[in-house]
Amino acid sequence: MQKITIVLIAVLVAGIAIPLQSQETIKLDEPERTGGMPLFEALDKRQSMRSFSSRELSGRDLSNLLWAAFGMNRDDGRRTAPSARNWQQFDIYLIMADGWYLYEPREHVLVKKGDEDFSKYAGSQDFVATAPLNLIFVSDHDRMTGASAENKEFHSATDVGFISQNVYLYCASEGLATVVRGLLDRDRLKELMNLRPSQHVILGQTVGYPGN
Ligand SMILES: Cc1cc2nc3c(=O)[nH]c(=O)nc-3n(C[C@H](O)[C@H](O)[C@H](O)COP(=O)(O)O)c2cc1C
Repeated sequence: MQKITIVLIAVLVAGIAIPLQSQETIKLDEPERTGGMPLFEALDKRQSMRSFSSRELSGRDLSNLLWAAFGMNRDDGRRTAPSARNWQQFDIYLIMADGWYLYEPREHVLVKKGDEDFSKYAGSQDFVATAPLNLIFVSDHDRMTGASAENKEFHSATDVGFISQNVYLYCASEGLATVVRGLLDRDRLKELMNLRPSQHVILGQTVGYPGN
């Protein structure tokens, strides 16, 4: 009887531990939050670029980029981009050669969701598959409490623009290349990333160092 209990506990512990272990958490560098190019110079340089070096982003750039995009900039949990009724309905997923990740702004960490390289599914243009980073902006309709279906779609389309522009401005400031993209197979990505029915892929944004 005692043996059975021990075996049962071991099975239960293993069953709980395995899913937790498969979600590796990666601490990002502290975001710098100061410096960068003067705003008007960054606005002057903001542009879409479609040629990327395959060189991986530095830890510093990755951390600062995500914080600029939609990090937390106030103690009450508010963010660098506005969202209607402060729903904060967007998550940023990262597709890279060594796997795909979710950005968690509260702890400023990446949660590894899988080891697969989904780069070739992140968009239909050639540069997408070879660039080091594709951001995927995902809106969760369940967070937009009290909104009609029409409003949820409307605010998914409007609010993503602020996040994307933050990425554009960080890239302009730091000499990185970026382009926001509507050309992507949303259903395929949703299926690959095992998203919930309430989660909707809205846009992708490719980021990297400029190519030749
Ligand atoms: C919602 C949206 C979707 C876009 N989708 C794509 C895309 O799929 N592929 C692409 O190469 N550029 C895409 N772009 C970038 C535009 O083509 C680009 O912003 C436009 O040509 C103006 O160039 P600029 O950003 O350098 O000012 C998109 C831009 C927006 C705002």
